Amino acid sequence: MNKPVILTGDRPTGPLHIGHYAGSLSNRLRYQESHEQFLLLADMQALTDNANDPAKVRRNVVEVALDYLAVGIDPNRTTICLQSHLPALAELSMLYLNFVTVARLERNPTIKDEIRARGFGRDIPAGFLCYPAAQAADITAFKATVIPVGEDQAPLIEQTNEIVRRVNATAGLAVLPEARAVIPEAGRLPGIDGKAKMSKSGGNAIPLSASSDMIRAAVRAMFTDPGHLRIKDPGQIEGNVVFTYLDAFDENKAELEELKSHYQRGGLGDGKIKNRLEDILQALIAPIRKRREEISTDQRYVLDTIRQGTEIARERTEATKREVIEALGLFQL
Ligand code: TRP
Repeated sequence: MNKPVILTGDRPTGPLHIGHYAGSLSNRLRYQESHEQFLLLADMQALTDNANDPAKVRRNVVEVALDYLAVGIDPNRTTICLQSHLPALAELSMLYLNFVTVARLERNPTIKDEIRARGFGRDIPAGFLCYPAAQAADITAFKATVIPVGEDQAPLIEQTNEIVRRVNATAGLAVLPEARAVIPEAGRLPGIDGKAKMSKSGGNAIPLSASSDMIRAAVRAMFTDPGHLRIKDPGQIEGNVVFTYLDAFDENKAELEELKSHYQRGGLGDGKIKNRLEDILQALIAPIRKRREEISTDQRYVLDTIRQGTEIARERTEATKREVIEALGLFQL
């Protein structure tokens, strides 16, 4: 029996952080047992909003691959591949642009939010507006049916399936499978400043490569309850980043519940809960950092891993592209 195919990816615009770990990397470690898993280093998609800085994207390809390997992604079980070196993805993207309207792209809630957040105004790069079609190419080229993504990405999967249905209807056969978004329950971790989202570029993240001093400083600086002035005062759990992170990383749930009610009653200081979180994060990151340092001394191994994965992915994606072209009945020489 073939295992179901799973595809996820990351835009290589900065090192991955503990938010990625909680929200996706830890799941990817499990999926490599149960699924056929592809991880896409989405450097072409990264350019859709970083066209002015291709060097940043280039540098981060290896950084993100190192993060994958350091957390325990096993290249023998998970195929790590580089988007820009998979021409079938670009070809399918062009093809799919004929199966989606500009109005539909503009209505995509993810795109709308991102356009606002990036302050593009009226100067939206065409590649950015169209990246949902390119992501549909990524997903379908691998015939991936399970797509674990953050909640914000769900509209992209919906749009992928619309394209799939139009292509299949035109071809008169189900050449492409539909995909299903799998949204992790945990939700997205906020930044250490309490801002909505931990971001690679926002200066509010704890990278998986953080030194132990960086971890300490980040936890010390972490947003708690601004109304919790004296230890004996009752404190708030909601919006308190330390507790949000403890919820994500503290395995001793019984003790954590105890601490929460103590904090809410009053008499538990921020220092205590920060110490607990710091210990947990130090223990989580130390082995990742160590492995990352070891692997990064062997750049050849990292490059070979990406090369070999990309080779496997190339065969897969070329085969799908040929099938789609044939199913649509385009001229073949
Ligand atoms: N859009 C995803 C992100 O920003 C990255 C991505 C590119 C992706 N292609 C994909 C995710 C295909 C899932 C499937 O994180």
